[in-house]
Amino acid sequence: MVDFNLTEEQQRLRDLARDFAQREIAPVAVELDREQKFSQAIVDKYFEIGLLHSVVPEEYGGGGLSSLEGCVVAEELGAACAGVASYLGANHLGLTPLLIAGSPELKKELLPKHCAAPHLAAFCLTEPGAGSDAASMRSTATRDGDEFVINGTKHFITNGGVASLYSVFASEDLTAGHRGISCFMVPANTPGVSHGKKEDKMGQRAADTREVIFENVRVPARYRLGKGRDGFKIAMMTLDDSRAGVGAAAVGIARASLEAAVAYAKQRVQFGKPIAELQGIQFMLADMAMRVEAARLLVWQAAYRHDQGLRNTKESAIAKCFAGDTAMQVSTDAVQVLGGYGYMKDYPVEKYMRDAKLHQIYEGTNQIQRLVIANELLR
Ligand code: CAA
Repeated sequence: MVDFNLTEEQQRLRDLARDFAQREIAPVAVELDREQKFSQAIVDKYFEIGLLHSVVPEEYGGGGLSSLEGCVVAEELGAACAGVASYLGANHLGLTPLLIAGSPELKKELLPKHCAAPHLAAFCLTEPGAGSDAASMRSTATRDGDEFVINGTKHFITNGGVASLYSVFASEDLTAGHRGISCFMVPANTPGVSHGKKEDKMGQRAADTREVIFENVRVPARYRLGKGRDGFKIAMMTLDDSRAGVGAAAVGIARASLEAAVAYAKQRVQFGKPIAELQGIQFMLADMAMRVEAARLLVWQAAYRHDQGLRNTKESAIAKCFAGDTAMQVSTDAVQVLGGYGYMKDYPVEKYMRDAKLHQIYEGTNQIQRLVIANELLR
């Protein structure tokens, strides 16, 4: 049975998220982008309306939303400011390894405390020399009695300087490749954790992206997730989960770009009539709309499979890749529809275009998504 309708409750959730995004995020999006400013005030308000930890199960202090519902919310955030969507979404990304592979005791120890306040989490996988090839990481974790000692540098970490809890991937045996990697939960106030400088990015500038450095950081052995040395699979399963949500935020950028292009085309008069009456413009708008709708359906499909407990490796890679490419294409087309005005900072579309680019890069480049899709087809 296929049902494309949101329930009344889900529609209320979408309206809540849309209202929040348009009231609290959209009016400051340009300033946050210009000043490269992270806003804790937005995190606080997002927490107050109950959405910050909404995808964490209720038994651990979260809101118990499904992945599909999380995507409905993420689209609204992405339509208002992709940088803010990114840092609010990265909280869930940082918690997902714990949700997937933490023991019930560890979840009870860490999650209710995290979810009781406007805290953010961060996912520390990437390193300066290990981006697409995540298994080539050099961070190490060495057992010492009842503790692990973590050393290494994580790179381009969303929420790097503002998170209070990290999921950190490090190798217990550098000679074992991906089979040596474990995942640890590390509170940010643990001695030995420090941050690099905030990255000066092309887009999504509101997000706090920086290095996180671990120097002889000691965590209790119980903070290691899973069985140990299964961290690479935990990372891959986390990304299977999160890629639909990232795709949803990209749909938000594309939708906002389309809306801006439609509004402009209706009021911009050239050759004696609104440019919306020119077929050249109409064809562009129609192509943009097709891409937005198709991307949303792929995102919803990937999230739906996750909610059904079905493997969604292929579907989430397709959703993330198609939605990211859609955001790039549709925002570029929106700049084109607006012409010279589109290129100026007086209109929002140049920001959409800069923000969209990151959707083809983070959470695995869109070339890596194509590899994942091909591997799933051929295995
Ligand atoms: N679920 C479960 N297990 C999986 C899996 C999945 N989806 N994908 C792979 N595995 C398992 C494989 O079965 C294999 O298991 P065995 O040990 O039993 O053989 C193991 O993992 C290794 O798999 P591969 O041989 O396929 O691994 P690889 O080294 O060739 O890498 C890759 C595969 C897809 C390229 C992976 O490295 C990858 O996804 N790279 C991209 C990394 C990435 O997305 N980084 C994003 C960082 S987060 C971020 O950007 C967030 C942000 O800031 C907002």
